[in-house]
Amino acid sequence: MKEIRWGIIGLGTIANDFASDLNKVSGAVIQGVASRSLTKAKDFTKDHKALKSYDSYDDLLADESIDVVYIATPHHLHLKWTLKALKAKKAVLCEKPLGINAHQVRLMKSAAQSEKVFLMEALWTRFNPTMEEVLKKLKSNPIGKLRLLKADFCFHALDQSPEHRIFNLELAGGSILDIGIYPVFLAYVLLGKPQEIKAYGQFHQGGSELQTSVLLNYRDCQAQLFSSFAFKSEMKAHLYGEKGKLCIDADWFQSDSYRLITDQGEQVFTNPKKGIGFCHEIEAVNTAIRNAKIEEPRWTLQNSLELIELLDEIRKQVGAIYDFE
Ligand SMILES: NC(=O)c1ccc[n+]([C@@H]2O[C@H](COP(=O)([O-])OP(=O)(O)OC[C@H]3O[C@@H](n4cnc5c(N)ncnc54)[C@H](OP(=O)(O)O)[C@@H]3O)[C@@H](O)[C@H]2O)c1
Repeated sequence: MKEIRWGIIGLGTIANDFASDLNKVSGAVIQGVASRSLTKAKDFTKDHKALKSYDSYDDLLADESIDVVYIATPHHLHLKWTLKALKAKKAVLCEKPLGINAHQVRLMKSAAQSEKVFLMEALWTRFNPTMEEVLKKLKSNPIGKLRLLKADFCFHALDQSPEHRIFNLELAGGSILDIGIYPVFLAYVLLGKPQEIKAYGQFHQGGSELQTSVLLNYRDCQAQLFSSFAFKSEMKAHLYGEKGKLCIDADWFQSDSYRLITDQGEQVFTNPKKGIGFCHEIEAVNTAIRNAKIEEPRWTLQNSLELIELLDEIRKQVGAIYDFE
């Protein structure tokens, strides 16, 4: 099995979680890491058994021993570093959202296609074993026609400074792109593109969007979706069908279990994830690269584009537009 040599750019919170899971995946190594600070890169290298430390993202991209780059910067930098990495012929796994709007995602998609290099948005939930099982189970129609989806993603972050990535407008902060993307992703994966969208948002003191309710209207189904940085919710996802209900247990986007509730009673299905949950998307990327694929069929660039188009419309209705757009 060919060893896949990873590089990591932007050594913040998620890069640390991702690196610990990368070390649990066989046939992969952390070849290099890049930070704006060499001390930080060296500490990260020590913590996560990486081989090389860089204090420049460009220098990491110039390292010919690196096959694939994981981009874990704030949202506003995804476009810049993805385009540079693709140009350097590195495969790319870029954190969500792939770009901050559909225009950016189109640029990234066409760059990957013209360079013929692998690119995927790191929508790890798509690769979560419970999510895979739910999608398979629904094919046998256990709850009848789906009529309502209720899903949210909320945590309390009001104690964070307005400069923090999640509130900072210059870094494309706000709940919709950061966490609202998950419930919208679930509706998109289960139901596709809606016929109508209605969204209402509320704003934080610094001007960033704090919480948003979204209603997606489909021909026979509705999706009620919500995201907030103001409080912690239960974070279960509920799918109501004409013959029963399927509930993905908390926290639904990384859950190890779901339950099916019908006239026959309740059944619980458990599918433990590996590590924190990033191993599954990492394995998917490794396999795609070994097979010289430029996309992963379970989460394609067209999927990322259609998802960000929904998020664009939601942000437009709410009035959460960034000055630099
Ligand atoms: N999949 C998930 O579960 C999950 C969870 C959380 C976040 N995310 C996504 O991961 C990405 C990063 O989130 P995070 O929470 O890890 O953020 P974070 O802790 O703020 O880390 C981001 C890193 O990006 C680098 N960076 C480069 N330019 C920067 C700038 N101008 N301002 C701030 N940081 C800059 C910094 O690394 P250096 O100092 O090393 O250069 C920083 O540590 C986002 O896209 C977010 O949506 C995903």
